Amino acid sequence: MLSQHDNDTLTKVGPGTPMGDLMREYWIPALLSTELPEPDCDPVRIRLLCEDLIAFRDTNGDLGLIDNYCPHRRASMFFGRNEECGLRCVYHGWKFDVNGNCVDMPSEPAESNFKDKVKITAYKLTERNGMIWAYMGPRAALPPLPDIEPNMMAESLDGNSAGLRECNWVQAMEGDIDTAHLSFLHLGKIDAEDVPPKTFDFYQQADRAPHYNVVETDYGTMYGAYRPAEDDSYYWRIAQFMMPFYTIPPEGRLGEKIGVRCWVPVDDNHTMFTSMSIRNTNSSMNRQTTDGQPMAGLSAGSGKLPNGTGSLERWRFEANRENDYQIDREAQRTKSFTGVSGIHMQDQAITESMDHIEDRTRERLGTSDTMIIKTRQRLINAARALQEGVPAPAVDNPEVYQVRSGGVILKRDQDWLKATEDLRRAFMVHPGIEDTTK
Ligand code: FES
Ligand SMILES: [Fe+2]
Repeated sequence: MLSQHDNDTLTKVGPGTPMGDLMREYWIPALLSTELPEPDCDPVRIRLLCEDLIAFRDTNGDLGLIDNYCPHRRASMFFGRNEECGLRCVYHGWKFDVNGNCVDMPSEPAESNFKDKVKITAYKLTERNGMIWAYMGPRAALPPLPDIEPNMMAESLDGNSAGLRECNWVQAMEGDIDTAHLSFLHLGKIDAEDVPPKTFDFYQQADRAPHYNVVETDYGTMYGAYRPAEDDSYYWRIAQFMMPFYTIPPEGRLGEKIGVRCWVPVDDNHTMFTSMSIRNTNSSMNRQTTDGQPMAGLSAGSGKLPNGTGSLERWRFEANRENDYQIDREAQRTKSFTGVSGIHMQDQAITESMDHIEDRTRERLGTSDTMIIKTRQRLINAARALQEGVPAPAVDNPEVYQVRSGGVILKRDQDWLKATEDLRRAFMVHPGIEDTTK
């Protein structure tokens, strides 16, 4: 349970809010490169941290992110002409380059120097392996991009995806660090007897109330949740939260899976889920029952609607709030815990169902919520510390992001932190990991 003040600090990201200021210290995955496919292509409306912006790729291929509103009479730059290295407002022809300079002002006399005094708000964009990153912060010297492993591998090019979630970024993100729900929301209809013994899924379903260890890290927070495996061993699920909005859930085997998920605040009520992964290491969508059928509820889920031109019309799902996520009540009675198809859509339905901003003053948190409690505190503390001049965690240390998550079997007397130190490192090949996921 949080006070209303703490909940506001945690969730609100507009300009001038403590969390908004914290977010603006970091590079933010803002668009997929495919949204701006070529020089002088159509500009794209995006909303980021409650700001309405226009992204464009100029004639030279350089990327720009500018205020939606023209500084002259506030017309939308979305209608602008993307031509000859700048975006030209169609109302009176003022033209701006990717740095926000006004490079042409044909409505003023030729001898006027007014154009040199006018700028449009412009943020830096940069591109790496199919992802376009934005920096909206105050620094003149830009910080480095974080070492997000899948975004630094060429194979990640086809592993980028995005999806709009209609709720505040914190509760969307918290779905990924709430490991207890896996046994219910996603696997609630599956009994241990339905899956082969000596597998992660078997241990998972045989004991649905794991114990938790949560530690604070340089980059955020990490948990290890353990439950019995065999007589002398535990099954550990180890997962990461990384500042300010990244998660690495513990699907698959620790040391093997390469994938990072981002919960980018669009505004206080909307989140853009952006995923970067190396596809063939993400085993969670491929789990099967003993008869070879995909496990109920573990299919990829809903398809996407075509993108529209509105900032909230990017990467929407066909199953959504308006159609109750296409819930199938008959399936819920017979073969699926939720009746909602697909892991992602089950998470989407439940986190959106808490209203746009969850009322954290009315929660009743248990021991299984320890990771959520500590992560909230880490975020609130970092946001408040920044207001006192303490630098945002990890911004200047991109290498701290080089971590992985996953499941592992350890002897009961092993120290989980020591035993997994090596397996949690990114950019490494870990040969000989025992395959207990299938
Ligand atoms: S409003 Fe944009 S040029 Fe006048
Ligand atoms: Fe989930």
